[in-house]
Amino acid sequence: MRAAVLVPAAGLGLRLGGGLPKALRELGDVPMLVHALRALLAAPAVGAAVVAAPRDDVDGVRALLARELGSDAPVTVVAGGVTRQESVGRALAALDADCPVVLVHDAARPFVPVSVVEAVVEAVEAGAGAVVPALPVVDTVKEVADADGAEHVVRTVDRASLRAVQTPQGFRRDVLAAAHARSAGGDSTDDAGMVERMGVTVAVVPGSEDAFKVTRPFDLLLAEALLNRRRAEAAADVDVDAEHTVV
Ligand code: CTP
Ligand code: MG
Repeated sequence: MRAAVLVPAAGLGLRLGGGLPKALRELGDVPMLVHALRALLAAPAVGAAVVAAPRDDVDGVRALLARELGSDAPVTVVAGGVTRQESVGRALAALDADCPVVLVHDAARPFVPVSVVEAVVEAVEAGAGAVVPALPVVDTVKEVADADGAEHVVRTVDRASLRAVQTPQGFRRDVLAAAHARSAGGDSTDDAGMVERMGVTVAVVPGSEDAFKVTRPFDLLLAEALLNRRRAEAAADVDVDAEHTVV
């Protein structure tokens, strides 16, 4: 097996609201976590997944995934942690597949394209210790400071060298394991950042707008729109194929 993926899905989704763990929120009647796993397992390089599920619902998530993906899907479910870092660490500890490359992907990025997943795996296979998919930053970015409750601009950052980083992030398995062992007990939300702090160079490949993270309520609108577009495109493809079959 070339690669396995760890899927942290144990967050509360406080910024999204709605009272349900975010990974279990539905988009088009399908939980976000299921969308994310389908996207990841569709990549030829990915042979297994370990999900870090909300601690009070591990059995429920196991049952959900067996129902949605089939009981023979190569997916393991473990209890997540209090922080994202702890959730990734628990998933990594439970990974028993024998594979040289490990990806980490947020359940909250349900529509990552296969092409991004493959590019990340290929960059690790080509020799990188760690890889992140990233996009240029579109907004002007300013550093601010607070003086007596009023913010003012300290400086404007040169946008040309800035990137917004997505997941899946990809790692040589020993590099990710070393980073988590070294930073145990921390609360990093960025695995590649932990690797950077070990002095390992992190490579960058192009990300995708489709791999955006569902964080706030507005993102749900975007996610529903993207899903509707994809479903419409898939339906159009089916019609074309059917016509060809008839002809
Ligand atoms: N995550 C996790 N365990 C945690 C916290 C987060 O597995 N203790 C996961 C989330 O489920 C999500 C990913 O890490 O898939 C990215 O985190 P984020 O977008 O911050 O999700 P939440 O922590 O759920 O959201 P919020 O911070 O708004 O509560
Ligand atoms: Mg969070």
